[in-house]
Amino acid sequence: MNKEQLMECARKVKKAAYAPYSKFPVGAALLLKDGKVISGVNVENVSFGATNCAERTAFFTAIASGYVKGDFQAIAVAGDTEDFLPPCSICRQVMAEFCLPDMPVYLTNDKQEILELKLKDLLPYAFTDLDM
Ligand code: THU
Repeated sequence: MNKEQLMECARKVKKAAYAPYSKFPVGAALLLKDGKVISGVNVENVSFGATNCAERTAFFTAIASGYVKGDFQAIAVAGDTEDFLPPCSICRQVMAEFCLPDMPVYLTNDKQEILELKLKDLLPYAFTDLDM
């Protein structure tokens, strides 16, 4: 699967977002090394802090499905934004828990362009280890 196809998965699943408070739907598509794609959407809550972002929904679904650290090949994130929508910092930290620093992270904008970053670009000097 190429980045355009993965991004299309993220765009499609965005329709399932539960975002009644922000009206800011987000979709994420996580590509596994076995070729499967696991999707996620943001799920909001009237108690705003209980909200879960699309990226974390995808990762937590993957972990609950039995995938482990190192199984992840790439992630695509899509919103309805003019500029490239970057993952929030909590999601970056979750990515750092399970993914290699070189993992591609694909972002998109309203012109359907795709910006390819690496996790280490989004979260340099990541905190990943208690044995320091
Ligand atoms: N959100 C995501 O799902 N992913 C991001 O990358 C940025 C923000 C969600 C959280 C909340 O439901 C809404 O977007 C507005 O912050």
